[in-house]
Amino acid sequence: MRVDKLLANSGYGSRKEVKSLLKSKQVTLNGVTVKDGSTHLNPDTDNLEVNNKKVNYEKYIYLMMNKPPGYLSATKDARDKTIIDLLNEEAKVYQPFPVGRLDKDTEGLLLLTNDGQLAHDLTSPKKNVKKKYAATIDGEVLDEHVEQFRAGIVLKDGYQAKPAELEIIHADKTSEIIVTITEGKFHQVKRMFEAIDQKVLYLKRLKMGELELDKSLELGSYRPLTEQEKAYCLSIKR
Ligand code: URA
Repeated sequence: MRVDKLLANSGYGSRKEVKSLLKSKQVTLNGVTVKDGSTHLNPDTDNLEVNNKKVNYEKYIYLMMNKPPGYLSATKDARDKTIIDLLNEEAKVYQPFPVGRLDKDTEGLLLLTNDGQLAHDLTSPKKNVKKKYAATIDGEVLDEHVEQFRAGIVLKDGYQAKPAELEIIHADKTSEIIVTITEGKFHQVKRMFEAIDQKVLYLKRLKMGELELDKSLELGSYRPLTEQEKAYCLSIKR
């Protein structure tokens, strides 16, 4: 791995800031000053120091974001803003990507990481990780719909969805509900409500497995996972 990438990934600033750190001879590799950021090192065996302090290399980043509407759950897009645009330079150097997708208009819990195995396992249908959403529905959600969701609703395209928990918070011309699903198919929640001829007006993800959206996170902001949250995520990993 390159020295400049490792330093940037370890919180020593942007690539540009790291460059000036190297230029001003503040970095040593195995006791020898290193000025060239493209120098390669083995993070497991080589000793990299900044101002005589060992650099503790973190390979992975794990962030919890409260996704705002209007942003794509993607790393880049020619037309639209993506959730990566909300990250600072320090986080961007890790090249994180979203774990599972939320629609452009959906808000709430989004995990970002550069740990590909974790991303794969958290979204794998085999792991049955529950995803909990709050939604506003255009229509009156009834007890019979709760039953239909519990039995596994058949979508308009004939797909039989897995059983889902539907909780009615308030039902009238529009309804407030909580729905918990184990699948993450494209537009899954919206399509489940289309199957009962109702439309999702607002959708927010609250929880993924045991990982719960931090209520103090404003829309568009993010924070690193706590050690406990990280331990939970890693427990899902194969
Ligand atoms: N289901 C949807 O329909 N949209 C989302 O963004 C997430 C789940």
